[in-house]
Amino acid sequence: MKSKTKFVCSECGYETRKWLGKCPACMQWNTFTEEAAKVTPGGISTAPLPKAIPLTEVSKESEERVKTGMQELDRVLGGGIVDGSLVLVGGDPGIGKSTLLLQICGILSQNIRILYVSGEESVKQIKLRAERLSINNENILMVSETNFENINRLIEEIKPQVVILDSIQTVYSEELTSAPGSVSQVREVTGQLMRIAKGQGITVFIVGHVTKEGAIAGPRVLEHMVDTVLYFEGERHQNYRILRAVKNRFGSTNEIGLFEMTQQGLKEVNNPSGLLLDSRAKDQSGSVIVASLEGTRPMLLEIQALVTPTSFGIARRMATGIDYNRLTMLLAVLEKKIGMQLFNHDAYVNVVGGIRIDEPACDLGVIASVAGSFKNMPVDPDIVVIGEVGLTGEVRQVNQVDKRIMEAKRLGFKKCLVPSGNKSSSVTNIDGIELLFAGTVEEALGFLF
Ligand code: TYD
Ligand code: MG
Repeated sequence: MKSKTKFVCSECGYETRKWLGKCPACMQWNTFTEEAAKVTPGGISTAPLPKAIPLTEVSKESEERVKTGMQELDRVLGGGIVDGSLVLVGGDPGIGKSTLLLQICGILSQNIRILYVSGEESVKQIKLRAERLSINNENILMVSETNFENINRLIEEIKPQVVILDSIQTVYSEELTSAPGSVSQVREVTGQLMRIAKGQGITVFIVGHVTKEGAIAGPRVLEHMVDTVLYFEGERHQNYRILRAVKNRFGSTNEIGLFEMTQQGLKEVNNPSGLLLDSRAKDQSGSVIVASLEGTRPMLLEIQALVTPTSFGIARRMATGIDYNRLTMLLAVLEKKIGMQLFNHDAYVNVVGGIRIDEPACDLGVIASVAGSFKNMPVDPDIVVIGEVGLTGEVRQVNQVDKRIMEAKRLGFKKCLVPSGNKSSSVTNIDGIELLFAGTVEEALGFLF
């Protein structure tokens, strides 16, 4: 006799027969909830047996892709939407997921039939939003429904090429007794959608809200089931939105897409460097331009630092858009190798535009902005600073430096400070821009101040 209930960790989806106080998988306390187990009848499966084919006979045809026409989205997807794929779009509530998907519907509906299932908004509410976005097409079929069995029947009846489910946390399957949004429901519905996507070649977009811990509820469970996971992020009070692929079975995961939220919905940002540098205050100390590489695209970003004497107690450090630990490491390099007395100074560093940088190639720019604010000296507004910084104060070479220099040149910068290690003929042959080569932080600061 099979057990009829099981206990599922609401954080990581770990399952046990007995209740536990602490989850052995993710070490969280009090996360187990009781859920009815789905009883699978024993015996032989009735599903049709697939045929195994020799590798030599597998066709090499690449998967069909549908371009959405939004370049920023197509890039993140790896060149367009793959037929029959399951795509999860995650992000904080209110960031713009429903808006993005409705806009995708607007484009695709010109020649594709779409079923838009919302468990969050009424059809009327979506209509209002669609009107604001100037989207109106009979190929978009709207339904407000949360019962998965009904959704499944609708898909069979309508036979759409694309299904949008907004959001996974609101949908439930009758086969399970647990509440919508619980790990078993989210997993069950996603599993069913995967079957629909693969079995009928329908592309399915699932919206997933992110919990405060930063993972999509029913967290990792969901991410490993789908083909593509896209995160939509950005500061709520700023207008930029970044679409990032964190998993992609059909493409690279380091591409990002940039959008701006406007009154008419999301607008693509095709020239991010230009836009992000638009409001730059030149000749201000603490402002430095760096060249970061996001996927295949170089992007010029402004780093700002403010260094002030600590009035009492321990010096404060704040990092927005760069890693906090990386900042403290760079401050330590300045202190030890340059002799800059930062221990009694507060240091605030910010990447303008709400963009997050994970690239060490921006280290030297951070160092330059902190040093500039400390000395109260602006750097030349026509220079872009490129280089990784090591613990001994050496400036280390970065990859694809020519791409970064070309972007600086395209935006009208006159000089680039680059690591000595990157000196090669392909770099020195770029005309129209002066290159300054630095091997150490000391040398680099010598060029700048
Ligand atoms: P929404 O797509 O509802 O977010 P999510 O589905 O991720 O919860 O977008 C929410 C915000 O976007 C909302 O605060 C209003 C804003 N917005 C605009 O600024 N312009 C627009 O054209 C639209 C449709 C929304
Ligand atoms: Mg929404």
